Amino acid sequence: MMSAPSIVILTGAGISAESGLGTFRDEGGLWAQHRIEDVATPEGFARNPQRVVDFYNARRAQAAEASPNAAHAALARLQAEHLGDVTLVTQNVDDLHEKGGSGDVIHMHGALASALCAACEHRWPARLEMSVGEECPACAAPTIRPDIVWFGEIPYHMERIERALANADIFAAIGTSGNVYPAAGFVQMARHVGAETVEMNLEPGENVGLFDDIRESKASETVPNWVAEVLAG
Ligand code: OAD
Repeated sequence: MMSAPSIVILTGAGISAESGLGTFRDEGGLWAQHRIEDVATPEGFARNPQRVVDFYNARRAQAAEASPNAAHAALARLQAEHLGDVTLVTQNVDDLHEKGGSGDVIHMHGALASALCAACEHRWPARLEMSVGEECPACAAPTIRPDIVWFGEIPYHMERIERALANADIFAAIGTSGNVYPAAGFVQMARHVGAETVEMNLEPGENVGLFDDIRESKASETVPNWVAEVLAG
């Protein structure tokens, strides 16, 4: 008997859209309202830390009010019931996968729930309202920052993600526009080892041509259906 397939899932802002959290690149999205270089780069933080902290405080407040949707719940079910490996990688900084019941979530772009010391790299749970100049509980330097991977910084957990991709039998990308690397290149790595690739997105992502199976609809519909298919074998 063949062993159960190893699955790698990549999620993006689209999976949280139906929970009321805005995406980045859709019409009226976050990057239409804020300049990336102001709020999502180390240079922007150096120029105006208050603006950056305010931006992520607003995101954190919104995420705290949000509830997971059927797509988050379905992925938690897959993690609980599938007999093979299920590696859940998210570009999202919200905690809706965790609220939806997922235990092991790889936050490659960081997390709103976490604070990072820019001096000693200590991490601790962020307060709902972070303040500029808060002291690090480990080294006492006033060098707190949001634990978010900004443009120009290296995403977290890449070794673990690449190891999972090298063993993938199925790769699924959900609610991501395929604009930001290295995440947008994961489908290529999965194809390279012969994995079956599926995209679940409202509209075709930038890298849609690399997917075997494309399901264009709301994540709350496509993801529970896909999970049911995978669990049925
Ligand atoms: P984007 O805003 O670029 O893309 C979101 C995708 O979700 C779009 O392709 C939409 O069509 C799709 N979408 C919207 N609503 C949906 C729904 N209900 N169901 C399914 N799909 C839906 O967001 P990401 O691809 O996640 O990084 O962006 C990647 C990274 O760019 C983010 O992690 C962030 C951003 O800059 C940093 O801030 C470092």
